[in-house]
This record gives sequence, structure tokens and C-alpha cells, in this order.
Amino acid sequence: MTILVTGGAGYIGSHAAVELLKSGYNIVIMDNLSNSNFESINRIRELTSKEFPFYKCDLLDRDELVTIFKNHDIEAVLHFAGLKAVGESVEIPLKYYHNNITGTINLCEIMAKHDVKKLVFSSSATVYGNPDRVPIDESFPVSATNPYGRTKLMVEEILRDLQVSDPTWKIALLRYFNPIGAHKSGRIGENPNGIPNNLMPYITQVAIGKREKLSVFGNDYETHDGTGVRDFIHVIDLVKGHLKALQYLDSNEGVETFNLGTGTGYSVLDLINTFSLVNKKEIPYQFMERRPGDISICYANPTKADKVLGWRAEKDLKEMCKDSWKWQTDNPNGYDKTTY
Ligand code: NAD
Ligand code: UD1
Repeated sequence: MTILVTGGAGYIGSHAAVELLKSGYNIVIMDNLSNSNFESINRIRELTSKEFPFYKCDLLDRDELVTIFKNHDIEAVLHFAGLKAVGESVEIPLKYYHNNITGTINLCEIMAKHDVKKLVFSSSATVYGNPDRVPIDESFPVSATNPYGRTKLMVEEILRDLQVSDPTWKIALLRYFNPIGAHKSGRIGENPNGIPNNLMPYITQVAIGKREKLSVFGNDYETHDGTGVRDFIHVIDLVKGHLKALQYLDSNEGVETFNLGTGTGYSVLDLINTFSLVNKKEIPYQFMERRPGDISICYANPTKADKVLGWRAEKDLKEMCKDSWKWQTDNPNGYDKTTY
């Protein structure tokens, strides 16, 4: 039995692939490499000393997807593939809706045709919109403020409808908080194209001298130091949650939603200071206006995942900072531009 990993060349998918292979699963990876590089596939093979099929293929290409399901005895799908840049989603919403929603519908239709009905979907804490309190649990109301967030909300709803129409589907909706960090080896990590949107890759690029200084968006939030608070979670802890979700789906039909976060909120300044301390690197920064669309405080109540899946995050902020920095220093230019 084999697990199909969509988006497996990307940041989270590549870490999941390593974890799956290490745990004895067979995998197939498909990715159109629109936001990733074939070199990550080489690195997954190198880290695990295991071979697996890779398809450079688009979720929008139904014929190619069918080929994958015909060629392999797929048992379940970890579905990471999607576009994820909030700002870009505002500029090109149709592309986001088409890619993330049509792509997922294609996948589910072809899964159903091949009687594969076990799915783990990468959702996001962004579906909680601007929550009126923290910690956030899975019963909180959901909303979205941008097209990216709406694709996550819509896909969650589509998957619920699908499961109502055919109760033999087994679906886990995993709402990620803020994944950072990288594999301990420094061989795989987050590889943003151009100027990073997210905080940790920006910090590491400042630390290595690629960018002059970090802009801290807002120091007038109602938090302990005025800067935004987030639930940073090590990517390895995050992907371990996927393996637990897969095991859970072996014996449970239905749709279940799980927060994947640590349950602790740290501010932007906490992250900068911890990074500087553990890596002995000053991070020059300046305070700027708040970034439109940002919320003040966001962190998870992760107890459902603990109780139901037997999963909890184990790695602390120091380890996240160390591992992100090792990835950046060992790969100053991310993955070399290998073509496929
Ligand atoms: P990523 O961009 O590194 O990985 C996504 C992968 O999907 C990329 O390799 C990309 O080439 C591929 N892809 C995109 N559209 C595709 C398509 N139509 N067909 C085939 N491949 C396609 O992103 P990531 O950080 O690894 O995120 C993985 C998933 O988790 C995404 O769905 C994202 O929305 C979700 N998520 C990420 C975060 C985060 O902070 N990184 C937070 C919450 C949710
Ligand atoms: C962002 C997205 C969210 C998405 C998530 C993962 C927005 C509004 N939200 O979450 O939908 O699910 O990424 O892809 O884009 N910060 C700075 N300077 C920077 C970058 C960030 O101060 O250069 C601050 C932000 O204001 C925020 C915190 O750092 O307070 C975290 O930002 P980021 O890493 O972008 O994640 P989120 O905004 O939480």
C-alpha cells in the first residue's frame, strides 16, 4: 500500500515524505514544481536512502492524475499541493480558486473512481479569521478575509459535503498554525521564491546578509510587547501529526478537524530575540505600520489532537530557530536551480 503525497516537493510535503519513508510507508510524490525545485526530491532520496516514483504533474491535468492512480496501489493521499501566498491571492484570485479548489475536486473525483477514500488535507489557522479570544479550538467560528483563506474554507466545506454523500470517505482536515524550522540535517527546508512573505524566512535572509533589515509589522498590538503573537510550530512536529492522522483514519470514517499547533504564543520580538540568542546573530529590524489583514494574537488549543490522535508538538522555539538557521547557512541560495 502506498501513500500519494501531492505537493511533496514543497516545504511541508518534503518533510512529510521523509517522515513517511522513515516510518516504513511506500510513497509516490506528485508536484508541478510551480513553487518548488526537483532538488528537494533528490534530497528526500538522499536522506532516506529510499527510492520512490516522482511525477512532475499538475492537479489540473486529470489524465496525468489518472495515470498515477492506475500505476500505483494508492491507499491514502496527503494533499499538500496548493498555492499559499496571501498577497498574491488578492491579485490573482481566479488562479487561486482554480488551482486550490478545482485541483482538489479533480483529485477527489479520481480518488473516488479508484476507490481511494482516505484523505489528509492541509488547511490553515487562517480559517479562524480574526478570533475574539485565544487559545483557538476547532469549534470556533470560521471566516476568511482573502482568497487564499477562502480556498481553504471552501475546500473544507466541499470535503464535508463529499463525505455526507458517501460516508465511506475518511478525511482529516488539519489546520496548521505557523510552521517554521527544517529537517535537522539541513538538507531540506523552506525555499521561498523572491522576497519572503513570512517571518522566519525573512529573518534567516537578514541573518545571512541577503536582506538589510527586517520590517516588524506593528508594535501597537495589545500583546506583551506590542508585536503580533503567533503559534510557531516545528515542521517536523507538524508532519508527525499527519502520520498520526493517517493512522486514525485507518479505523475511523467521517470528517475530523484538528488544530496542529503547540498551544503557546510567541511574539515577533520573542522570535527575533530567541533566534539571535541561539544562533549568535543580531537581526537588525525596524518597526513599521501594521500589515493589512494581520491579526493581533493567534495560537491553538491543540488538546483535541492530543486526545484523539495522541499527538502533541515537542520541539521548542530554540530548536525551531536553530534548525531554520542551519538550513539557511547550509543552503544560502536554497535549492540550486536544478531543472527537471
Ligand atoms: P509549498 O509551496 O512549499 O508546497 C506546495 C507544493 O504544491 C509546491 O511544491 C507546489 O509546486 C505544489 N503545487 C501547487 N499547485 C499545484 C498543482 N496544481 N499541482 C501540483 N502541484 C502543485 O507550501 P507549503 O508551505 O509546503 O504548504 C503546503 C500546504 O500547506 C499548502 O496547501 C498550504 O496552503 C498549506 N499551509 C501552509 C502553511 C505554511 O505556513 N507553510 C500554513 C497553513 C497551511
Ligand atoms: C500568514 C498568512 C496566513 C497563512 C500563513 C502561512 C497573512 C495575513 N497571513 O500567516 O494566511 O496561512 O502565513 O503561509 O499573510 N511579520 C513581520 N515582518 C515580516 C513578516 C511577518 O513583522 O517581514 C509578522 C506578521 O505581521 C505577523 C507575524 O510576523 O505578526 C507572522 O507573520 P507570517 O509569518 O507572515 O505568518 P501569518 O501572518 O501568521
